Amino acid sequence: MDYLADESIAGITYLADRLGKPVLVEGPAGTGKTQLAKSVAEMSGARLIRLQCYEGLDESKALYEWNYKKQLLRIQVESGDEDTSWAEIQDDIFSDEFLLPRPLLEAITADDPVVLLIDEVDRVELETEALLLEILSDYQVSIPELGTIESKQIPLVFLTSNNTRELSEALKRRCLFLHLDYPTIEREKEIVLTKVPDVSDSLADQVARIVRSIRQLELKKHPSVSETLDWARTLVLLGIDRVDEEEAKSTVNILLKYRSDIEKAIKDFSSNSAAHFDGQPAAN
Ligand SMILES: Nc1ncnc2c1ncn2[C@@H]1O[C@H](COP(=O)(O)OP(=O)(O)O)[C@@H](O)[C@H]1O
Ligand SMILES: [Mg+2]
Repeated sequence: MDYLADESIAGITYLADRLGKPVLVEGPAGTGKTQLAKSVAEMSGARLIRLQCYEGLDESKALYEWNYKKQLLRIQVESGDEDTSWAEIQDDIFSDEFLLPRPLLEAITADDPVVLLIDEVDRVELETEALLLEILSDYQVSIPELGTIESKQIPLVFLTSNNTRELSEALKRRCLFLHLDYPTIEREKEIVLTKVPDVSDSLADQVARIVRSIRQLELKKHPSVSETLDWARTLVLLGIDRVDEEEAKSTVNILLKYRSDIEKAIKDFSSNSAAHFDGQPAAN
């Protein structure tokens, strides 16, 4: 996939693989944290297993759960048979056949190479974080009815965080740390060029420069790379090859979602009008 990485990303991914350590990727929304894990999976030909975190995520959704429906059906069938004892039924219904693996267990028991993405880990409660930490330390899961399941391999693990809360020191210690920030103008221009069909080089350049300038303002919510891409797509759809101040003003709501932010950007357009909109695209 077309993930545009700088050397630090490539380096840390290599290290993570070598050391068998998870990578904790932190940074503002829309800087490509999720995309990074997806792209690493794709480039290395590994299967991506994703655990999307949310408030209230628990073991039964992260690790495994028993298939109660199927167990109940089996109980109904077997209890009709007078020769079968309850102990036998219990042994039967707490076996592999009735286990529903969730992403963590799936990643640990996989035979093929996998990349495990634990996405937006800052959304789970501390106790769930502790559970994750345990698994990322031992790469094994113990299931009371079945015993301990050990991993066949150490998967490459990416955890992402938008920093909505501070993660535990223990988790941070366990991981290699990668901070993703907004890309440089040059990188963002490249991202636009690879992701937006039919965009011209000069428009991509102009968009990247204007977005960079907007990100330097004091805003409630800075535009992310996804919003840059949306804006570039919109301009292309409108048949614009070089955006002027009026066009920028009338489309800036694609980049910014708060009224006060939009007003600040529009002011910035006026005061930087010459730099952003006049003349030829600046040389790199
Ligand atoms: N370095 C990059 N190379 C290619 N695409 C990128 C890059 N950074 C961000 N993107 C694009 O920006 C969008 C947002 O990325 P995403 O991974 O969802 O961000 P995050 O998970 O950090 O919120 C996606 O469409 C992604 O493809
Ligand atoms: Mg994400």
